[in-house]
Amino acid sequence: MQEKIYRDEDVDLSVLNGKTLAVIGYGIQGKAQALNSRDSGCTVIVGTRPAAESRSRAQAEADGFEVYSYAEAVKKADVLLIELADPAQPAVYAEDIAPNLRPGQTLCFCHGFNVLYGAIQPPKDVNTVLFVPNAPGAFVREKYLKGEGIYGCVGVDHDATGNALEVALAISKAVGSTRAGVVELSFQHETEGDNYEEQILYGGVIHLMKLCFQTMVDNGYAPSFAYAKSIRSLRSVIDVMDENGIEDYISTRSSRTCEFAVRTRGPRVINEDAVREIFAETEKGLFARDWMQEWQLGMPQIHRMRRTAAESTMEKTGKEWRERFGV
Ligand SMILES: NC(=O)c1ccc[n+]([C@@H]2O[C@H](COP(=O)([O-])OP(=O)(O)OC[C@H]3O[C@@H](n4cnc5c(N)ncnc54)[C@H](OP(=O)(O)O)[C@@H]3O)[C@@H](O)[C@H]2O)c1
Repeated sequence: MQEKIYRDEDVDLSVLNGKTLAVIGYGIQGKAQALNSRDSGCTVIVGTRPAAESRSRAQAEADGFEVYSYAEAVKKADVLLIELADPAQPAVYAEDIAPNLRPGQTLCFCHGFNVLYGAIQPPKDVNTVLFVPNAPGAFVREKYLKGEGIYGCVGVDHDATGNALEVALAISKAVGSTRAGVVELSFQHETEGDNYEEQILYGGVIHLMKLCFQTMVDNGYAPSFAYAKSIRSLRSVIDVMDENGIEDYISTRSSRTCEFAVRTRGPRVINEDAVREIFAETEKGLFARDWMQEWQLGMPQIHRMRRTAAESTMEKTGKEWRERFGV
């Protein structure tokens, strides 16, 4: 059976009438969701860290929101949109959110990670739901302003009030996602699907681009040409594939040489065992365990890798390339 797709006409925004939405964290997603919900007619306040620590408090104030501490915002709100960086959520939840929750409130997460892995365990007298627009925050805002929306998903982990799904759907409508379509997903599939995709697709493609570049440079190609081949050529075809399908692109829009290359050599590049292994590790929670440990230690691997990567030939070439040929 096909999944139900919720669109504007299926969702009642009035579930949020008379309710105050507190957007906890005014970062990449928080800002977009706060602005969109307010423009949809909701009453929205914002919770951030104290001014001395916060990178976004001044921006939230400049955007015209009433801004409070995390704890104050929780007390004033009926619906909490938890838009904090995922690894920061457990500590903020324990110190500022949990002690101030009251029965009947809704905790709406934008990623199921902390609930799925038990780092946050909300009480049973509040709704625990999920709403995730499938795009970076800036795009969520840009589309909304054009009268469009971003495909998204909602999920219910615990229904305390009997209408938790309706509340999650109303939030998705306020942010603009039901303009495109919203589907229901479990916290498990949202979290593991997201973590899996980031490892395989983002991880795989980015490392393939780097290897493609390095191999050409090692074999005497001009770095600028190798850069254009390794990044720019992908950019020009990804929208075509999304709009028309992969087969249509390969068989009617690419050259026959390209079609032959894709069909016969592409599979050799893929390590299917590694992909399946990473899927299994993700399902067992091993990726989550490693990431939480990395965050708790202050991200040593990431800091080390960032330093090396920022100094790489590819990054330097990319900077020059963008200056010479434009974005
Ligand atoms: N990035 C996306 O477009 C995207 C897409 C889909 C889902 N999501 C989900 O949306 C949620 C928010 O992600 P995001 O990318 O928008 O987050 P983000 O911009 O990286 O961070 C959001 C806020 O978290 C606060 N914060 C960071 N570290 C903190 C700490 N140690 N203690 C207390 N507060 C801290 C910051 O507050 P201050 O500004 O006050 O410093 C920041 O504004 C996550 O659950 C994420 O998985 C994000």
